[in-house]
Amino acid sequence: MHDLRAEPAKFYDLGPHMPDDIPFYVERIPIAAARVLELGCGTARVSIPLAAHVASVLGLDKSEAMVRIAREKVSAAGLGDRVELQVRDISHFELPERFDYIIAPFRVIQNLESDAEVEGLLRCIRAHLAPGGRCILNVFRPNRDPDAMRDEWVSGEEHLAWEVQTPGGLVACYDRRARIDAERLVLYPELVYRRFEGDEVIEEAVLRIAMRCFYPDEFVALVESAGFRVFEKWGGYHGEPYGEGGELVVEFGVES
Ligand SMILES: C[S@@+](CC[C@H](N)C(=O)[O-])C[C@H]1O[C@@H](n2cnc3c(N)ncnc32)[C@H](O)[C@@H]1O
Repeated sequence: MHDLRAEPAKFYDLGPHMPDDIPFYVERIPIAAARVLELGCGTARVSIPLAAHVASVLGLDKSEAMVRIAREKVSAAGLGDRVELQVRDISHFELPERFDYIIAPFRVIQNLESDAEVEGLLRCIRAHLAPGGRCILNVFRPNRDPDAMRDEWVSGEEHLAWEVQTPGGLVACYDRRARIDAERLVLYPELVYRRFEGDEVIEEAVLRIAMRCFYPDEFVALVESAGFRVFEKWGGYHGEPYGEGGELVVEFGVES
């Protein structure tokens, strides 16, 4: 499997603009005996703190580079008995167990470009939820309507997203709005990571991803069309009403 993040993975945890979602997931999963499946776990940003509150976390991610970093962090945290990580594609997987909670923090589902992948993900969620289990999915709320997105989103310019001092110098991340699939509203941003020593760039890695847009009603309809019932929904991690905040967060399961 080609790993888009083979080079960029090492920069992921340096980003200062991570969502403040960990207390939200801990609160939504209040059961110490819960078995949690995290889809697109990345470098275990959420898996590790969550593991202190639940029985076990199994994280799946298709990027070997991200999983390698996650494994190092899990081992350094002494959580090897609670957190397991596997390299897998979340749009088609089969595991021998079911889970009380399935989560995919930080907009993971938006990386799935095709309908087939999104449908596959929802099918896998259904197949792996324990009776009464809940799933929480999140996407960003598009900040403009579809026509404006088509007309305005692409930009030839590179913008500084963040920069941090590191022991060896400075790392900066720039974003480029490279192209859009106007029909299906899939954005193709590029994140360019550069490591500087003084003014000199000594390392560069480019992450090219797909971010499929979902609007508030469409996101709920998507989940319901897969046979789930949405039990709760929010516009962010601090009680923002659905459709008003910067995020769309839905919690759903199978009606019993
Ligand atoms: C924005 S990161 C989020 C990582 C982590 N959930 C977090 O909150 O920090 C998106 C992650 O989803 C993973 N991902 C994207 N598409 C995937 C797929 N089809 N199967 C498995 N992992 C996928 C990427 O490799 C990446 O690690």
